[in-house]
Amino acid sequence: MGRVLPGQTIGILGGGQLGRFMGIEARLMGFKTVVLDPTAGCPASQVCDKHIQAALDDEKAALELARLSDVVTLEWELIPMQTLAAVEAVKPLFPSSKVIRNIQDRLAQKDFLYKSGFPQTPYAAVSNMEELRAAVKKLGLPCILKRRTHGYDGKGQFRIKTEDDIPKAVQALEAPCVLEATVAFEREISVLLAIGTDGQSRAFPIAENVHKDGILFSTLAPARVPMPRSDEALVLAERVGQALGHVGVMAVEMFQKKDGSLLINEIAPRVHNSGHYTLGGCATSQFEQHLRAVGGLPLGPTVIESPVVMINLLGDLWKNGEPRWEKLTGQPGVKLFLYGKAKAAPGRKMGHFLFIGDPPDGPLAHAQRLYERLL
Ligand SMILES: Nc1ncnc2c1ncn2[C@@H]1O[C@H](COP(=O)(O)OP(=O)(O)OP(=O)(O)O)[C@@H](O)[C@H]1O
Ligand SMILES: [Mg+2]
Repeated sequence: MGRVLPGQTIGILGGGQLGRFMGIEARLMGFKTVVLDPTAGCPASQVCDKHIQAALDDEKAALELARLSDVVTLEWELIPMQTLAAVEAVKPLFPSSKVIRNIQDRLAQKDFLYKSGFPQTPYAAVSNMEELRAAVKKLGLPCILKRRTHGYDGKGQFRIKTEDDIPKAVQALEAPCVLEATVAFEREISVLLAIGTDGQSRAFPIAENVHKDGILFSTLAPARVPMPRSDEALVLAERVGQALGHVGVMAVEMFQKKDGSLLINEIAPRVHNSGHYTLGGCATSQFEQHLRAVGGLPLGPTVIESPVVMINLLGDLWKNGEPRWEKLTGQPGVKLFLYGKAKAAPGRKMGHFLFIGDPPDGPLAHAQRLYERLL
């Protein structure tokens, strides 16, 4: 594929906050954008040149998007395979449907990691109560049952602590699942990297993540993972990306165990929430890097000048109306990002803020205190 140059059009499947930031960076770089999303006024529609308002499984609408675009990309790995195939038949699509096929189904993803020899927690496919009982026996308690498809932000998961939880878990998820042994991790990290159409790759500084109730709460970059373990994480992520044949930005979520060793949790073949720190914290944001990668342009530098913390702002903060942003925005080192979502709901990602700096109390503790000003 040739290069996609300023003035040309990038098509985006999915119009949430990730598509929105792609649209904003595309505009800064001089690209045009068209987005496919079912929701009127969705976050990306507010910044893209054109919004095709249709379901993500509407193949005719996807073809229209492809017709208008010079290259097509996605903000979400759960775009239906038929949509991806329809687009791919007419225009370059990055990442390709072949990459997504290995990701969409959690079991396929785990099998891919297993066959490629990557470290991960033991798992088993489960589709009924008997299989679950047998799998729990094999993997041990506690363990986590996850739906094979359509889980995100910890949704579609059930933690099994005792044998009594088994029927509850089956009832709660009602779908083909994967059972995973729970990892007693020391920290969670994610490695974000970009791979270009020429196979060249470049990683961002490793991010360290804290989840609450299965939803990302905060990211600190660079992660407190010293050498040589940090290099090991970078090499692991790079090998995953190359084994997948990925093009674009991707994130590899990992658990670091108490002995320091690393296990892969999951792969996100797209820009990622734990990479939001790069927009404002790094020389090139993950969104700009993604557009460069899928457009066949040289990748940008990923250096970080100072520690940065990202904290997600969930809809719960809106329970008494709009949060009092002035308590946050006047503070040194703070950048606030809101996604333009019409309605707040508990657990819904509405925005995030960055704290950039290296204060004496430590960036994470400092950002936490800033966050508490909103409560
Ligand atoms: N096997 C495990 N052992 C310990 N903790 C786990 C395990 N699986 C998941 N978790 C915890 O739950 C979080 C969410 O899990 P996972 O990444 O599988 O979910 P998800 O719904 O796909 O989330 P997202 O797509 O938002 O990253 C993890 O980041 C981790 O904190
Ligand atoms: Mg995850």
